[in-house]
Amino acid sequence: MTAVDEADLRSRVARLSLDQKVRLLTGADFWALYPEPGAGLRRVVTSDGPAGVRGETWDERDSSANVPSPTALAATWDCDRVAAIGRLLAAEARRKGVDVLLAPTVNLHRTPYGGRHFECFSEDPLLTARIGVAYVRGLQSQGVGATVKHFICNDSETERMSVDVRVDERTLRELYLAPFEAIVREAGAWAVMASYNGVNGSTMTESPLLRSILHDEWGYDGLVMSDWTATRAAEPAARAALDLAMPGPVERFGPWGHALLEAVRAGRVDEALIDDKVLRILRLAARVGGLDGAVPPTPAPVDVPRELRAAAAASFVLARNERSLLPLDRSGPDGSGLGRVALIGPNAEIARTLGGGSATVYPPYTVSPLDGLRAAGLDVAFAPGVLGHLRPAAARAPWLLRPDGSGPGADLRFFSPSGGVIGSEQRGGAVFRWMNGFAAIGAPEEIARVEVRCVIRATEAGTYRLGVTGIGRFRLLADEAVLFDETLTMRQGADVGETLMAPPVRLAPLDLAAGQPVEVRLAHDVHTSPMAGFGTFFQLLLEAPHGTDDEELATAVALAADSDVAVVVVGTTAEVESEGFDRTSLALPGRQDELVRRVAAANPRTVVVVNSGAPVLMPWAGEVGAVLLTWFGGHEFGHALADVLLGEAEPGGRLPTTWPATEDGLLSGQPAGGVLDYTEGLFIGYRAFDRDGREPLFPFGHGGGYTTWSYDSITVDCDEASPPGVAVCVEVRNTGSRPGREVVQVYASRPDSAVERPARWLAGFAAVDADPGETVNVGILLPERAFQHWADGGWTLEAGTFTLAAGASSASLPLTGTVTLK
Ligand code: BGC
Repeated sequence: MTAVDEADLRSRVARLSLDQKVRLLTGADFWALYPEPGAGLRRVVTSDGPAGVRGETWDERDSSANVPSPTALAATWDCDRVAAIGRLLAAEARRKGVDVLLAPTVNLHRTPYGGRHFECFSEDPLLTARIGVAYVRGLQSQGVGATVKHFICNDSETERMSVDVRVDERTLRELYLAPFEAIVREAGAWAVMASYNGVNGSTMTESPLLRSILHDEWGYDGLVMSDWTATRAAEPAARAALDLAMPGPVERFGPWGHALLEAVRAGRVDEALIDDKVLRILRLAARVGGLDGAVPPTPAPVDVPRELRAAAAASFVLARNERSLLPLDRSGPDGSGLGRVALIGPNAEIARTLGGGSATVYPPYTVSPLDGLRAAGLDVAFAPGVLGHLRPAAARAPWLLRPDGSGPGADLRFFSPSGGVIGSEQRGGAVFRWMNGFAAIGAPEEIARVEVRCVIRATEAGTYRLGVTGIGRFRLLADEAVLFDETLTMRQGADVGETLMAPPVRLAPLDLAAGQPVEVRLAHDVHTSPMAGFGTFFQLLLEAPHGTDDEELATAVALAADSDVAVVVVGTTAEVESEGFDRTSLALPGRQDELVRRVAAANPRTVVVVNSGAPVLMPWAGEVGAVLLTWFGGHEFGHALADVLLGEAEPGGRLPTTWPATEDGLLSGQPAGGVLDYTEGLFIGYRAFDRDGREPLFPFGHGGGYTTWSYDSITVDCDEASPPGVAVCVEVRNTGSRPGREVVQVYASRPDSAVERPARWLAGFAAVDADPGETVNVGILLPERAFQHWADGGWTLEAGTFTLAAGASSASLPLTGTVTLK
């Protein structure tokens, strides 16, 4: 891929002055590295993130493919599919001028409350590792760099900038480091991101683990960059194996630049360390084609909608399907056709396709469940059921129009501190976000005020609510009458992520007649926001008239009673599941539980579609016909949903994380006195449920398809050659009447062990497709590591007999074999 060899890289480093070298160690701006003509280095651009490639602009003008949430990708248990998503992201990166993706996130689902749960793959280190390796291989095979993050133990958000995680060495190795190790060793990740938090007393950008584990043990030759603003003190970070402080420039974010230059000149930091950091930057650049002479491959073209639609369907977990309610039969029970489908729930109309925070992208469009079911030709009637639980959405079509009444959108003007207009933008929506200055218009200091002008036109008579979400001073006018002029402030101690994703909301009522237009003007004084140095972001919000929750519930229930089948789409939103804060409850927001119960009571043929990136409580699960867990499904979500509901695609997903029945006994991510102690050791997720004898609602690995399977035999090849691996062969048969896909899972256990261990742990898996009546032998190679544990500073194998159980989930393991290892 690259024509630049190591000797060449080293000679380029040798050509640079100390000033030139130190300058390269901090970002040039929010997303990019400095170019250095002296080394033949062009500007190398990074971008979030796991669910799509944002690019340097963060709004609708530069849209991005929105892939299903990482929890969804892991739920496919399908490494080939995930590698294909990696290649899709590489094509997106190149299209958008991005060289290095800030993904994947391979922290673990230590607790379901974790705000970024949706952004991580699984509670299990082996599944996380396999999916992560596939993702990185797919991406990097096309010449785009991966940044595996966040190293290490950023498994929850509360106090993430400062918390010190205390974790014992065995737990660190067997759980939290395991995915990083596999990805670094097997996929050769080109970059790793050091997290905000500390581990066992050192903040991660200064941690000795960067060198001792990444460099010395794993032989990592890639780059370590800091999470954004995570580099604290100049010298300790320079002496640690941190190579790049992000973001830049150093004058705004520090801490290297002059301070580091002085430290090297005074002999407090060895120049050889600086050379190694620069070498790693140049090596990354060579890999992504950012050095002259280095040519990366051109990513293969991808049919994005097709790939996203198939990936979403492959991730949906059919958690319950009583009396085979799904798939819905288009021809109807008596051949006269499927009658009316009552589609109910707030998330049915507004597709929730991704979680919140830095992983957010602007898709070119989103297919909501309502759009998807209608496009499939079904007779669909929609009722939101409940409304009050969600923040109002940004103003949109059909209400939002440009000032001249054309198209959906708004016109923006930018004012200098002296009041002159210094730029304008024509926008297609009402979500405004500038993170790297105001693009072509100017640096943050040059802009004092942003003014939005648009028309809101009522579709029906009633009380609309118009407003804003953001921080700082906002003045909102309708037909020149002031609706409010207020300064919105953030919660004390709020994190950047929370400030970005869930800023305060201010709404004002507006009574309009049907068809009535109003001219709207929203002005924001940029520097009244304490976040102005970081970026400026706000949305114009609009809520159309609606009934009370009681009225909406009654309408939905009546509709369900009068329809052939009811599909209730419940879920969370990007503001509920987000970077920057943890959830405080796993309950569905608002009155959604009540909505499900009442609809199910009115129509026994009720399917509940759960649109969340992470587990939510479902106290009604036993009362409904079918439950389909769909994650945040990416921008083709609604099409995939129609495919699966109608049986045109198999619900391919299996749970990558335990779905609890209640909140009892769950770990929290809440630190005490600045410390988060992982006292549970190895016992997270299903390992904790097994230890405590607690029953989850749906166990790890659970999920069904539209056919049935029998598990017929297991053979274990325990010949002398193993380790390095143990070969297991499982015979399964499709006993149903449709072709299907099964994920065969193998768990190891060691009942008589002299060391403390989980009751069972995932040791390997493979997916298989089979036609009705077909028998398939599935070969699964269990890695040596699946049998080892960490003791006394190294990996060790406890000689003796391990039990291997195979089946369809961690709680359904009909076949058992053994292997004796020496
Ligand atoms: C997040 C990272 C992200 C970075 C840049 C940070 O707040 O923790 O995951 O890559 O911002 O957006």
